[in-house]
Amino acid sequence: MDLQLIGKNALVVASSQGLGKAIAEQLAEEGANVMVVGRHEDKLKKVAEELEASGTGKVAYCPCDITKSADIKQLVAKTVEAFGGIDILINNAGGPPAGTFEDMDDEDWQQAFELNLLSYIRLIRASLPYLKQSHGRIVNIASSSIKEPISGLILSNTFRTGIVGLAKTLVTELAPDRILINTVAPGRIATDRIKHLDKVNSEKNDTPLEEWEEQMKSSIPLGRYGEPAEFAKVVTFLVSGANTFVTGTSLLVDGGMVKSI
Ligand SMILES: NC(=O)c1ccc[n+]([C@@H]2O[C@H](COP(=O)([O-])OP(=O)(O)OC[C@H]3O[C@@H](n4cnc5c(N)ncnc54)[C@H](OP(=O)(O)O)[C@@H]3O)[C@@H](O)[C@H]2O)c1
Repeated sequence: MDLQLIGKNALVVASSQGLGKAIAEQLAEEGANVMVVGRHEDKLKKVAEELEASGTGKVAYCPCDITKSADIKQLVAKTVEAFGGIDILINNAGGPPAGTFEDMDDEDWQQAFELNLLSYIRLIRASLPYLKQSHGRIVNIASSSIKEPISGLILSNTFRTGIVGLAKTLVTELAPDRILINTVAPGRIATDRIKHLDKVNSEKNDTPLEEWEEQMKSSIPLGRYGEPAEFAKVVTFLVSGANTFVTGTSLLVDGGMVKSI
């Protein structure tokens, strides 16, 4: 299958590590030009060097705090300046803090809204003129909580479902410009975020970390956590030229973990 990614311009948000980095790597390997994004210039520089070594396209990076509107405008402008346009937008962000309803005050809710939903809205808005020109592709990274809430992650559970509502509505609004938009939902993919959540939950449940991890893995029919590269391959297909008819889908990448139909 020809993914038709050579020379395509990809803006991959929150790509200094974890899932975003794996997506940036996969797109670079397929010949796309990739903009790498995060808050820390030193981390971004290192990732950009790695991508340059493995891909054939151009690689650029831009320090950006996606909770800031001005940063997002500058990021999109820099991407267009570096590559001449945008064909692919990957919306991604850090995870919000773990906790229950009674742990969270207005400030926590506001911060999670800005990080995990408003940033996606602003990035789509700022990229839209270029995505219209390219008949582009958008993938929003969410969480398996779009299908089944996860205990102790009230902020995530609330805002990830908003991502799906946004995407499902945009399917129709963006279709006349032949822009495809999909949501990809990780279950448990082995990144620092999952390490952090396992540590928090093992302490909260007074269970040794290794035992907790085994319990988590045993709840996944495939019996293990996913690898970031496995997740990235699914995203890469959805944003590629090989995908011409999948839009509005919410796709789980979870080794069968979520049981809901
Ligand atoms: N891994 C999983 O299995 C899983 C499951 C469900 C949901 N998710 C969600 O999927 C997303 C990615 O997960 P991950 O596992 O890759 O997380 P991760 O390893 O913690 O990576 C998060 C990324 O977000 C960036 N970031 C955080 N805050 C930012 C900000 N304000 N502005 C710009 N960049 C920011 C971080 O870069 P800097 O720190 O350098 O800024 C980093 O590149 C998260 O929202 C996570 O909650 C993941």
